Amino acid sequence: MYRNFVFDLDGTLTDSGRGILTSVRCALEKMGKPVPPVETLRRFIGPPLTGSFRAFCGMTEAEAAEGLRLFRERYVPVGWRENRVYPGIRPLLRELKNRGCRVYVATGKSAESAERVLRYFGLYPYLDGIAAPSPKELEADKGRLLKSLCPDTRDTVMIGDTFGDVQAALDTGADSIAVQYGYGAWTEEQLSRATRTADTVEELSRILLGQVPADRGVFISLEGLDGCGKTTQRDVIRTLMEDLGFETVLTREPGGCPISEEIRSLLLSVRHSEMTATAEALLYAASRAQHVHDVIAPALAQGRAVICDRFADSSLAYQGGGRELGVETIYQYNEAGVGRFWPDATVYFRIDHETSLKRRYSASAPDRMEQADAAFFTRTEQAFEQLAARFEDRYLVLDGKKSKEEVSEELRNRLPAFLSEKGLI
Ligand code: TYD
Repeated sequence: MYRNFVFDLDGTLTDSGRGILTSVRCALEKMGKPVPPVETLRRFIGPPLTGSFRAFCGMTEAEAAEGLRLFRERYVPVGWRENRVYPGIRPLLRELKNRGCRVYVATGKSAESAERVLRYFGLYPYLDGIAAPSPKELEADKGRLLKSLCPDTRDTVMIGDTFGDVQAALDTGADSIAVQYGYGAWTEEQLSRATRTADTVEELSRILLGQVPADRGVFISLEGLDGCGKTTQRDVIRTLMEDLGFETVLTREPGGCPISEEIRSLLLSVRHSEMTATAEALLYAASRAQHVHDVIAPALAQGRAVICDRFADSSLAYQGGGRELGVETIYQYNEAGVGRFWPDATVYFRIDHETSLKRRYSASAPDRMEQADAAFFTRTEQAFEQLAARFEDRYLVLDGKKSKEEVSEELRNRLPAFLSEKGLI
């Protein structure tokens, strides 16, 4: 068993290709140069960019410098975030940490941009150190970086997707694992020089840990008044969670599984205007009990990120506040069905009841719930605000009155940090 684990970053921990390739493409288009085929473009990932512009696009030195400037114009503000943690990496790093191992990153990126990526994607807390080339160095000497992290390489393994990583290990006496899911174009001869090879993150986990550790699930609910825009933002949240390395399950309430979808039709049909507030609250709770049992609990047990468009907080606000049954009563109604499955995080899209009303009128025909009067929505809004204050630890509050684009941007800026700070990822 090793003690020190040194990981390369791009192509090993994260799949950074999307942001790099889109930014290269953008730079070439701005320069009026033809964009090479994807197989060639992939070779831009890893080595210094100016060299690739010259080798693959026939640029002069001056053109390559301009190419790099244009690349940065997009990569620095947005491209760096178009990155994805390989599924399985997060639980692997967590398990190494749990076992008391020392975990490092040695990267060709600048220390600043490596740290930014690792912090944003919530991997930073699992690391004991990062080694990166100094600003003056054109290319990273990975062997030197490895030595700077682990002067004694006896119990050390270097894990990476390019031959440079294996070479670093050979130069310093460490072991190496060549991973083949990244961007490296390995020859047989190069692979034969690595101590071990791994085709997938699973195989890597088996080599390093003797097992494939399960991820821990995360349960995120989306809440707010009707018309708050949460349904539009669901996909942004789903992509964010996938970028953090999770498999995702997108679901909704009332509904989410066959029995609960039937209860949904009962609840929302305008034919049932005589339904009592208590019957309504119990039906929401019944629908939720089935949904938790059929969908939410099993997905969390498999380590998935469950993103649920409305959950029990809607009942607390709409039936507890709006229908005036009282929040504590609604709690009791829901206890048996929800059990320990309260959301880990609740994204609350805050809008006031007047905005909600305006947005509802401009949308489709109102369902039974939407037919309620203004006083009902005023009370529901107040109840949501009280819940946001009471559960501030799990509530991420966003301004739902902003434009779609602004809300999406705020989600990208705040959700990963929120989850990481709470220790949920
Ligand atoms: P939903 O389908 O989320 O509507 P929208 O996407 O327009 O917000 O929810 C349907 C309605 O059900 C909505 O008006 C809120 C209400 N609702 C409750 O009153 N209690 C609950 O527990 C839930 C989940 C929803």
